Amino acid sequence: MRGKFIVLEGIDGSGKTTLAHTISDAVGGAELTFEPTSGPIGSALRSGAYGDIPPAAEALLFAADRAVHTRQIEEILDSGRWVICDRYLGSTVAYQSASFGESADWDWLLGMQKKSVITPDLTILLDIDPEVSMARVSRRGEELSRFEKLDFLRKVRSAYLRLADILDYQVVDAAGDEKQVAETVLEIMRKKGLYAPQ
Ligand code: TYD
Repeated sequence: MRGKFIVLEGIDGSGKTTLAHTISDAVGGAELTFEPTSGPIGSALRSGAYGDIPPAAEALLFAADRAVHTRQIEEILDSGRWVICDRYLGSTVAYQSASFGESADWDWLLGMQKKSVITPDLTILLDIDPEVSMARVSRRGEELSRFEKLDFLRKVRSAYLRLADILDYQVVDAAGDEKQVAETVLEIMRKKGLYAPQ
């Protein structure tokens, strides 16, 4: 049987990584993947090797990284294992539309990925006020990247919420404690037949 594909979206510090582990434990083990990937394009994006590039180039590079990743995801799903992916196509729409600002073209951001993505069985959007998530990120002692500026993250958050309507994301309030967020997500999964509590 083909595995299930679950995607976690949300701004930096929304708790995706912790949640990925919780869901994996609940379903008896899943493959945890993330974007940008650790492959050549993803690593270069992460390290800033491309420098200050236009948002369109950024969007295309993230999408190319995803296209390569998607084939790996399909192989895992075909082998019957589940995949929980930290960020997927929504990240490019939310972050790069924020980078474009007024000139953002949503049809393009979504359309150019059409041939290179698959539809997840479930996408969870961990919704949180950037002020709260940024406080979490700085507590973790991580260096703030240019993606992590407050104003920018506000735009990303509203793009995510708009996208949630278009792509049927399940929006979960991520400001609560980890346990509460996990319970909400597992209940969503139970309702969708993706999780059966023992
Ligand atoms: P992130 O998941 O935060 O990696 P890490 O936690 O290891 O730093 O991803 C790095 C940044 O890349 C993040 O701020 C969001 C940004 N990003 C985009 O702008 N577009 C995309 O399509 C993806 C996948 C990520």
